[in-house]
Formats: sequence, structure tokens, C-alpha cells
Amino acid sequence: MDIDRSVVVASLGGETAVKDMSHEARADALEDYLAARLQAAVAARQSNKPYPTVADHEERVDRRGYRRGVGRLFVHEHNIQDPDAEAPTLTVPRLAPMPPKPTLIDFFRLRFATSAHLLQSARLAQKRGASEETILACLLHDTGQSLMKADHGYWGAQIVEPYVSERVAFAVRYHQALRFYPDPSVGYEYPETYYRIFGVDYVPLPHIARAYDYARNHKWYMDARLVTLNDLYSFDPSVQVSIDEFTDVIGRHFRQPKEGLGNDNTPVSHMWRTMINPDAPL
Ligand SMILES: [Fe+2]
Ligand SMILES: [Fe+2]
Repeated sequence: MDIDRSVVVASLGGETAVKDMSHEARADALEDYLAARLQAAVAARQSNKPYPTVADHEERVDRRGYRRGVGRLFVHEHNIQDPDAEAPTLTVPRLAPMPPKPTLIDFFRLRFATSAHLLQSARLAQKRGASEETILACLLHDTGQSLMKADHGYWGAQIVEPYVSERVAFAVRYHQALRFYPDPSVGYEYPETYYRIFGVDYVPLPHIARAYDYARNHKWYMDARLVTLNDLYSFDPSVQVSIDEFTDVIGRHFRQPKEGLGNDNTPVSHMWRTMINPDAPL
């Protein structure tokens, strides 16, 4: 892969910013840059291919060493994309230790596999004047994917349910189903990416169709719909959003347990502990 030094330096915030980085941070940044380039190369190659069908996806199931529903913390992202890609076997990163009483912000900094996506979605919702609860729902909407991509709306809602309002949990849970159903009244269309991810002839599963019907007629429908509207697929690597922008929203709407997430003895504490230590063999 060709690397243009000036492009890499610019993408990291310029010469001064790069000079101020530690060796480790610089190495991490270069790795992120290369991973993004690789992903773009894979995407460009895919764009010349026709959309796969459901049968194509079925046929690939036992050609992978993992299942597609596995959480993003547990397998390298770019190994998940395409079994036919010529990518080398990529390894997962070593995770930094978590503080003894981890906060939601610690998870954004050190664990959530989709942090950049979540932050960009929340920033977009904020720019469009969404309510603080909607901004928080956008910030949390794909947290479930760190643990499990399959049915991630349900996993995500469950993980945060003890700490947020019912309304925020509703938006997180139902955004998953709403993604499959257009709503022209707000300009939401079926995502083009889904033709590729699920197959061009994919029909949402019955539980998703039922969830859509339920959410469509619910008083909080628009909360979940706004999550799908601010849910971006095209990430702009030049836009760096910091979790610091949302500390006030989190402070007002996320009930951080004083013992730390994972230590607070709720029905979901083990899920946070699993994200703290996804390398545990049992
Ligand atoms: Fe999602
Ligand atoms: Fe998303």
C-alpha cells in the first residue's frame, strides 16, 4: 500500500500535532490510518461487484472462522468484512486496563469498538437541534455491537437500561428494526449498505417486522427514528469528535453507578465486565 507522508500527517492534525504525540500514539494513529485505507480499498473493490444475495451470504457461513454476529470487541473488524478479501489475517489490539471504577466515558475511551461512529452520530443529532435524550440515544445506539452484532439494538438497550430513561432505552432498542423501514416523511431511506450486508433480496425477520409495527405506533417512535436518521455509514475520518463534548449530556441523563460500571450488581453488570475483560477465557 502506498503511503503519502503529507496526507498521513494532515489526517493526524498536522506536523505540530504529530510532534506532540508519544511514539505509541503515533504508531496507533498510523495503524488506524492503514486500517481505514484497507477498508476503503476493500469497499472500492466491492463497489464493482453486484450486490450479494441472501443465498450468497448463506454459502459463506462455513468459509469463515467466526460468525458474523460476533461482537466487535472479539474479532478484528476488517476480518469481518468479506471472506473473499485478500486482507491478511489481522489481529485484535491489546486493550488498555480500565480504571477500578469505570465510567461510561472510560468505556468510550478504552473499550467501545464503535466510539467514533457513536460520537459522530451524537454530534449530528446535536447540530440538528435534537433533545438531550435523543443525543444520548445516538451516543449509545450501537454500544451493544461491542458485545454482539446480532440483534445489537436489544443488546445495546439492555446494557444501558438500568442507567437511562425508558425513552432512551426505547430509542436504542428500536433503531435496529427501524433501519429496515423507510420513512419518507423525515427523508429516511432503506440503507444502500444493507443490500450488501444482508443480501439484495433480504426480508427482515418476523421479530423485526413485529418490532417495527410496535415502534411505528408508539408515542416515542420519533426518538428511535431520529437515531436512524443520524446513524451514519460514511464516516469522515477528518472529523474528530471528543467524548468531552457530551460530558454534560451524560452527566444529566446517564446514572453513573458510584461503584463503577460492572461493579454495581445490576442484572447487566456482567455485560460491562465482559467488555472490561473480553480476553477472559471463561
Ligand atoms: Fe445500529
Ligand atoms: Fe449506527
